Amino acid sequence: MKQNNKKVPIIIDTDPGHDDALAIMLLEYSEMVDIKAVTTVAGNGTIQNVTDNARYVLGLLGSDAPLYSGSSKPLKRALVRAVVHGENGLDGAPVERGGKLTGDAVRRIISIIRENPGEISILAIGPETNVAQAFLLDPELPRLVKRMVIMGGSIAAPGNESRVAEFNIFVDPEAAEIVFNAPVEKVLVPLDVCNDIILTKSDFNALKGTPLYEPVSKMMEKYISGISMNEKVKGALVYDPLAAYYFVDPNAYILEPMDVRIETKGEFTRGMTVAERRIWGMKDVNVLVATKVDGGRFKKDFFRILKGKER
Ligand code: RIB
Ligand code: CA
Repeated sequence: MKQNNKKVPIIIDTDPGHDDALAIMLLEYSEMVDIKAVTTVAGNGTIQNVTDNARYVLGLLGSDAPLYSGSSKPLKRALVRAVVHGENGLDGAPVERGGKLTGDAVRRIISIIRENPGEISILAIGPETNVAQAFLLDPELPRLVKRMVIMGGSIAAPGNESRVAEFNIFVDPEAAEIVFNAPVEKVLVPLDVCNDIILTKSDFNALKGTPLYEPVSKMMEKYISGISMNEKVKGALVYDPLAAYYFVDPNAYILEPMDVRIETKGEFTRGMTVAERRIWGMKDVNVLVATKVDGGRFKKDFFRILKGKER
């Protein structure tokens, strides 16, 4: 997705998380993007753990992408952490704990976008607390963002954190509401398309003979056992890589303009992404929802790129 052969400048806002780790690997190895910053947010783990995990992944890749830590909790609610990624968010990886926390992710998001108006895309693959805070602090900022690609929500699929809510939105519905109502182009990759694309342990054998094979297999061992407890699938759900892949091949997606609002008040529906799907409904379109992603194309490119063919 290079813009006239130039790498697309992006910020990755993330809560590593096994699938976040794969998303960062995909983009770092893809040669398609210029990662201006990796900003961390609590979600799959505490801010300390997700930042330590991000530092480990960037080190594994030999990446020089700057790492800035951000929000340790949602805007208004207590932090709810995911369980499928294990105690520290990246079980199976030899992560050094207790690393530096810069605490300046929000300020960095603002400054990078302000220094490159109209150029920077944001890949949001964790709870949207950091981005929402940036928009609250600088109300002009959304108009200066090129686009957001968001892993989150579900249109018709059941939730994966509650009956109706996807984890990233469930954790911080107020932040998601700010982002979904902000005047910035948003591409949403919801559970509906993620649930259909599974990478099995044997799929990862494609990495055999590469430096990533051993660390990734060990991480996937833990992640797949975690996921299969909750989701009854025999493999890795790759939520975040499917959002990240948009920057590799946007033509692999079918997008539908939708009016999607965030439930912030419901007792049973907190964090639900509520789409206006009635034919006659008055739609105020605020997001382009991926209704289809070419899974075969994703899988082929994912392993080709991680095997290092692009390098
Ligand atoms: O619901 C899936 C999302 O929640 C992914 O981003 C995963 O990493 C977790 O953060
Ligand atoms: Ca994530």
